[in-house]
Amino acid sequence: MLLNLPNVLTPDQVATSRRILEAADWIDGKVTAGYQSAQAKDNQQIPEGHPAARQIGELIVKALGLNPLFIAAALPRQVFPPLFNRYSGGQRFDTHVDNAIRQIPGTPHRIRTDLSATLFLAGPEEYDGGELCVEDTYGVHEVKLPPGHMILYPATSLHQVKPVTRGTRLCAFFWIQSMVRDDGRRALLFDLDVGLQRLNRDHPEHPSAVQLTGVYHNLLRQWADL
Ligand code: NI
Repeated sequence: MLLNLPNVLTPDQVATSRRILEAADWIDGKVTAGYQSAQAKDNQQIPEGHPAARQIGELIVKALGLNPLFIAAALPRQVFPPLFNRYSGGQRFDTHVDNAIRQIPGTPHRIRTDLSATLFLAGPEEYDGGELCVEDTYGVHEVKLPPGHMILYPATSLHQVKPVTRGTRLCAFFWIQSMVRDDGRRALLFDLDVGLQRLNRDHPEHPSAVQLTGVYHNLLRQWADL
């Protein structure tokens, strides 16, 4: 499931993030790439654990913790500390798949990357190219969102960032380990959740709402790892 989460950050938060990130030191993005993706990758990143990345990363993770759509769709168990990249002058990231397991920097903890997230920090009018293209069973989806908006997609997907031919594309990117590792099960739970919210809004006294809420929780109980 591909999901667009609008307004994860406010315009003020985007402006603050950009000011801090633009003043940071940027390095070659190959440092966090696996062997295969290092061949495909040409961009810049802020080093993992850099104070600017940590500060803006914490802002993003906190905002996501208050975002009901994110929680319903991702059923997050752990969010990887966000990383930041930028592309300009023809830079791109050819088709690849993200590493399945990632070590959280400075800790012995590892996460399984069930979901990938890209949070856009530059407006689509600021650069040409730079679409995130995600392949799923329904074809290729091209994504380029306004600043502060985020795309969530299964980390199992092949994906690429097209060359940026004008301006600069600036994004946060990170991964989520979900309580429900299977994308199909997660999508079913999300559909049920969205339907239940609508039922509760339109027919708050309907007796089926309680029964269906029970089904939701009983499926989650069967499928969740903590
Ligand atoms: Ni990737």
